[in-house]
Amino acid sequence: MKVVIVRNKEEMGKRAAAAIAEQMRAKEHFVLGLATGSTPLPLYQELIRLNKARKLDFSTTITFNLDEYVGLPPTHSQSYRRFMNANLFDHININKAATHVPDGMAKDPEAFCEAYECMMDDVGGIDYQVLGIGSNGHIAFNEPGSSLASRTRVVQLTKNTIKDNSRFFKRIQDVPTRAISMGIGTVLDAERIVMLAYGANKADAVAKALEGPITASVPASALQLHDKVTWIIVKDAATKLQLEWGR
Ligand code: GLP
Repeated sequence: MKVVIVRNKEEMGKRAAAAIAEQMRAKEHFVLGLATGSTPLPLYQELIRLNKARKLDFSTTITFNLDEYVGLPPTHSQSYRRFMNANLFDHININKAATHVPDGMAKDPEAFCEAYECMMDDVGGIDYQVLGIGSNGHIAFNEPGSSLASRTRVVQLTKNTIKDNSRFFKRIQDVPTRAISMGIGTVLDAERIVMLAYGANKADAVAKALEGPITASVPASALQLHDKVTWIIVKDAATKLQLEWGR
């Protein structure tokens, strides 16, 4: 694993965008795996800037998002489809039909999950997956205890995640309790992965994931099994690391 520690989230976004852009320019029909949450926003701002400056073309890019809340329609202010449109897709020259976010309103969610996996397979799998980390070490919505071999499925959110994510909702009771999420096994199938983290509340999870044992109790520790992962960590999230990691 490559670990880069940076000064601020703007630098985090620029580094991640540069790494992704380099791969994107080398392949037509590039398949990009995307994440939501506040962490990837500096990356998306930089991708938008590169696109507007005509330095990065998304016209043939295909995207797959990691997860979506069950029960939220795409029009809901907190749905991940709406988030992706507002924070990235509406501002770049991407074909919206080539952007995929799990359908939180699917009538048969299990069948949808299987179909989602097939759609990724049909385009040859994900070339570059963007990830953030939950304060409990989750990736996508794979909560502690998720199988390291898990695939896209319906998951139950933990109290911790519901509390963390309640900042985006009016009341904690409005936060959905279930989600559709790519599994840890699905994420590990990506050719390359970039994991982003900032904020002191992530320091514990970052240290456990990078320096602790590979365990289902810390889903992000599974990234130790992948040979093309880059962690880009702002220094406030790197305070609990013991090793010298690129410093
Ligand atoms: C959410 C998402 C994750 C994200 C994480 C961190 O629950 N499902 O994909 O990485 O929480 O969110 P944030 O970046 O806002 O801290």
